[in-house]
Amino acid sequence: MPRVLSTGMYVPERIMENHELSGLVDTSDEWIYSHTGIRRRRIAADHQATSDLAVLAGEQALIRAGLPAENLDLVLVATSTPDYLGFPSTASLVQHGLGASKAGAFDISAACTGFVYALETARAFIVAGTARHVLVIGAETFSRIVNWKDRNTCILFGDGAGAVLLGHSDDAGFYPSYLRSEGEGGSSLLRPTGGTRVPKSTGPDSSFVAMDGRAVYAFAIRVIKDSILEVLARNGRRLDEVKWIVPHQANVRIVDSAAKRLELPLDRFYLNMEDYANTSGATIPLALAEMDAKGLLSRGDLVLTVGFGAGLSYGANLFTW
Ligand code: COA
Repeated sequence: MPRVLSTGMYVPERIMENHELSGLVDTSDEWIYSHTGIRRRRIAADHQATSDLAVLAGEQALIRAGLPAENLDLVLVATSTPDYLGFPSTASLVQHGLGASKAGAFDISAACTGFVYALETARAFIVAGTARHVLVIGAETFSRIVNWKDRNTCILFGDGAGAVLLGHSDDAGFYPSYLRSEGEGGSSLLRPTGGTRVPKSTGPDSSFVAMDGRAVYAFAIRVIKDSILEVLARNGRRLDEVKWIVPHQANVRIVDSAAKRLELPLDRFYLNMEDYANTSGATIPLALAEMDAKGLLSRGDLVLTVGFGAGLSYGANLFTW
């Protein structure tokens, strides 16, 4: 059975408070906090790319597990902000940076749901016997792709990386995940140019994140509830058995609405968007690593992670700590 062996995280030193954003766009700390639950975010230094953040998070996970990098069979990086467009994969850069000389490596592209997809991929590789130790990293530098003149988007995102090391165990469980996509909603959250559809920029702002916030909001509160109930039903577990729900950290109001639909108190969900904002594919592993460091997770706890984002994609993982 696959099992979490350790976690790691890295966030850049630079902290950007909400009030700094009011110097860039027409907004305020009061508006941002009351509409999102976000107070601050981390911003990568000019010399840092996504793989640099990922390597630091991954190193911490390896050190905590006492596992040499050469023992890794696979490095997975969930990211929407790769170092390079298309290739080489950020995971290959991370594999090299860690010295994981016997590992395969590839990126997983499922936007803010990327880590949920990556964790399931790691589980499946271990169950299939293809890999014994898999390092799963979510890492992003959204500060490079948001339009700092667009108040609808620039207030929401931040940079960071989290890592989870999966290995074998006889006594703990990692259940099959629930993964879904509604591609018909793809236009509500996308980068319009820079890919093969529209390779060249069509204007100064065209390569930045473009978002229909209300559409994404409505989608998110619907699929959080569905994903949680589906992953539990498929694996014969109940909501009251779950110790922690670790949601994608996009907006506290989204999580609060989903909690109300599930008739759950908000404190069953771990929340840290106040300090890190939405780090896309990195929010869930960052939260897990922070919870681990705070001693909030004990052996045997049932943990449910739930993600949603561009694609539109969504899904949930269920595992015993
Ligand atoms: N500061 C101040 N005012 C702002 C603002 C900002 N940063 N952004 C929008 N506003 C204004 C709007 O222009 C609007 O003004 P108007 O009424 O004069 O037109 C008003 O605030 C309300 O805008 P609205 O879009 O209805 O706000 P909202 O309550 O829906 O919150 C989001 C906007 C973006 C916070 C919310 O829709 C959201 O969180 N959506 C999901 C986004 C997300 O999480 N994306 C990533 C998913 S992985």
